[in-house]
Amino acid sequence: MAPLPYDPERVVISGNENPMGPSKEGLEALLKVAPMGWRYNPQGENLDFQAQLVASENVKQGYVVAYPGSSIPLANSFPAFTSPTRPWVMGQPGYGGGGGRWVGNKVIQVPLRKDYTHDVEAMIKADPNAGAYYICNPNNPTGTLTPRKDLEYILANKPKDAVLVIDEAYVHFAGPDNYSTELVRQDKDVVVLRTFSKIYGMAGIRCGATFGRPDLLSKISQYGGTGFMPVTATACAAASMKANPGLLVERLAINKKNREYAMEKMDKLGVSYIPSVANFFMMSVKGMTAAQVGTAMLAKKVQLAGANRWPSMPNHIRVTAGSWDDMTKFNAALEQVVKEGPPKMASAG
Ligand SMILES: Cc1ncc(COP(=O)(O)O)c(C=O)c1O
Repeated sequence: MAPLPYDPERVVISGNENPMGPSKEGLEALLKVAPMGWRYNPQGENLDFQAQLVASENVKQGYVVAYPGSSIPLANSFPAFTSPTRPWVMGQPGYGGGGGRWVGNKVIQVPLRKDYTHDVEAMIKADPNAGAYYICNPNNPTGTLTPRKDLEYILANKPKDAVLVIDEAYVHFAGPDNYSTELVRQDKDVVVLRTFSKIYGMAGIRCGATFGRPDLLSKISQYGGTGFMPVTATACAAASMKANPGLLVERLAINKKNREYAMEKMDKLGVSYIPSVANFFMMSVKGMTAAQVGTAMLAKKVQLAGANRWPSMPNHIRVTAGSWDDMTKFNAALEQVVKEGPPKMASAG
């Protein structure tokens, strides 16, 4: 769908962005380095960032590679680990998968279990000779966690030369007990994808990283996207990491409060939702499809995720937990939508 024209009145809670924005410390560092942006690497910012990444996850040197966000290494993981005979296996509903289509490699989508965890036994059975098994944890769009024992099941049962790709774009919202970089420290066949787009509020500044054994990371980086990092991004990210653990603890709590504010309202309105540990959740309004809810909410200037992104859940629509003000407007719009019922939809023809 083409982007909607900009409207400052519209509440945009469609892209799992974080209205807390870049941290104060990060912004100060970014502004300080910006005038030197004519140099590729003005004051060793890339090196400082690299050192922070290594220290933050306590991994060995060489076990992390930076990217401007995690979309690039995710896309690169398809040619890196899959082939026409070695598919990519992922959950349904899940995130991404498009990279397989572009390179012509098969993508197998396996329905999540009833509790919205990844059905790892079914994922292995779906193709015991896959090249990569992808777990988004917490999962986008359900906001649910797949436990460590299930990740370990994949490692124990996958083909020897296959890789487990764990996308932890939202893991900071779920708390440090859920970080799977422990598996990287154990030298397993694991690649962990991280981004600064979410809890760090830097989606438009572009910063991310891959963690894993150097032999696995180089398979990803050979397809490009590493090169020079934006110095504004690395300076901002490094300073933000230095503000941890306080920064993450505070942001996790704020996000939880705003998410629960919306959930309390949904409970009152009889709107069902999937309990989430991330900065988004799936909701379902009785008697309405996701497309109808999306259209009705948009008419009230609240923009949710594209309704047709997850065809296996046609009655669920994804909502980003935005600011308190965003969720106040969301709550008011949802109350109206529930009262008014399904909107008239333009015919698909
Ligand atoms: C699960 C997941 N992985 C990766 C990304 C890519 O994020 P970015 O390229 O901004 O790091 C997103 C973005 O929404 C996401 O939801």
